Amino acid sequence: MTEITRDVVIVGAGPSGLTAATRLKAAGLTVAVLEARDRVGGRTWTDDIDGATLEIGGQWVSPDQEGLLEMLEELGLETFDRYREGDSLYITKSGELTRFTGDIFPVAPETEAELVRLIEKLDAMAAEMDPDRPWEHPRAQELDTVSFEAWLANETQDQEARDNIALFIGPAMLTKPAHAFSTLQALLMASSAGSFTNLVDSDFILDKRIIGGMQEVSKRLAAAVGDDLFLSSPVRRIEHGPEGVVVHADGGLQVSAKRVVLAHAPVLYSRISFEPPLPRRQHQLHQHLSMGFVIKVHAVYDRPFWREQGLSGTVFSPYQLCHEAYDNTNHEDERGTLVAFVSDLNADGVFELSAEERKERILDSLAAYFGPEAKNPVVYYESDWGSEEWTRGAYAASFDLGGLHRYGAEVRTPVGPIHFSCSDIAGAGYQHVDGAIRMGKLTADQLIADLT
Ligand code: FDA
Repeated sequence: MTEITRDVVIVGAGPSGLTAATRLKAAGLTVAVLEARDRVGGRTWTDDIDGATLEIGGQWVSPDQEGLLEMLEELGLETFDRYREGDSLYITKSGELTRFTGDIFPVAPETEAELVRLIEKLDAMAAEMDPDRPWEHPRAQELDTVSFEAWLANETQDQEARDNIALFIGPAMLTKPAHAFSTLQALLMASSAGSFTNLVDSDFILDKRIIGGMQEVSKRLAAAVGDDLFLSSPVRRIEHGPEGVVVHADGGLQVSAKRVVLAHAPVLYSRISFEPPLPRRQHQLHQHLSMGFVIKVHAVYDRPFWREQGLSGTVFSPYQLCHEAYDNTNHEDERGTLVAFVSDLNADGVFELSAEERKERILDSLAAYFGPEAKNPVVYYESDWGSEEWTRGAYAASFDLGGLHRYGAEVRTPVGPIHFSCSDIAGAGYQHVDGAIRMGKLTADQLIADLT
């Protein structure tokens, strides 16, 4: 049994928990960070697989992500541009492969007009929202009780326009089918990135990567936390009261503190036993948040062969198993890497198959865009976060239909000495490392104000 006492104990050594920990330490408070896994970084994880360095989790940085950009500056980390020279590819419902440039897919003029109209409309609706307070949107209740799929069906008869707009928010972002989340939740996704236009623009939202990988953010923060970080220490039980908390982790580690910060995905709150139990409202609201589900596929080739054909590596189709893919070649790497995504219902489907069949189906989908050469990667890997006990899905959590206006306002409210900090409850930067960092700073600021 190891018993220690700190001002604040933080559960989770992802970017949010580690941001909070370093801020608190810098303000002179004592901390302990307890992490279930044997590594830091949470959903950011840069690893070598069969000799290739892969970003198994979060990786991209966009220009609006001020929390993350400031952090990169502080940590002395540099970025590089995602490769984007040349044509992108789109596959129609009938299987026709088309090259294009710009943001709007090569569709019939009337469908293009519908896409432009819907994007403008969603931009205007997202602009009415403060991403930190989506429940205050003037039509919050109305928009939160209609699924994004139903909203789109009411907006346009053009099926291809609907399928593409649904793709941007559903498979590509919340990684849930568009019938499973509300229009208000869709607007939060757009508004948290600045606008719907930003989300649609892959050159904006997937602008840069970090040299050395995204996990380096957490590794450098962890170095500043030093011996106050305890790996392989899943927290199982938290006693709490007006005097503070006693946090119990595996291995007989027990931390007494004035406050605790739960810095992990909300779906994992219920993995911890709280004594006394959390209030009724939290019991209810936590059940209305669930993880999306996506497979991130990495295919490394001896060279980036698509570039020889004048292709950027950027592809989209709501009708393909891999609904989007990008050139994900590492900084100064001679080999070429494609990263592709298989989302929600499609991911369910391929996980019914054997690993060999799944790989074949996924590579067939890549070959539909890039030709037969795509079928022969030298390294192939699927990031399967659904199987990770301490995450349980990807990319992040969102509310079910009606949950955001009903419970959203309380998602960050502390319960006595228990605070909450995670990308999944952020406003700006929601579901991204940027949001995790912003929440870490916000939580630390509140605690510094309370405790110093
Ligand atoms: P995070 O989940 O990262 O960390 C929480 C930590 O808490 C974990 O280490 C976990 O083990 C630990 N924990 C949980 N329960 C515990 C317990 N009971 N006791 C102790 N420890 C516990 N973002 C982005 O900005 N750009 C991108 O390109 C992508 N792409 C992307 C791809 C994929 C495949 C994924 C899975 C995610 C992304 N993301 C992303 C999202 C991004 O990775 C995510 O938003 C942040 O990692 C969230 O950081 P947090 O610190 O909030 O949680």
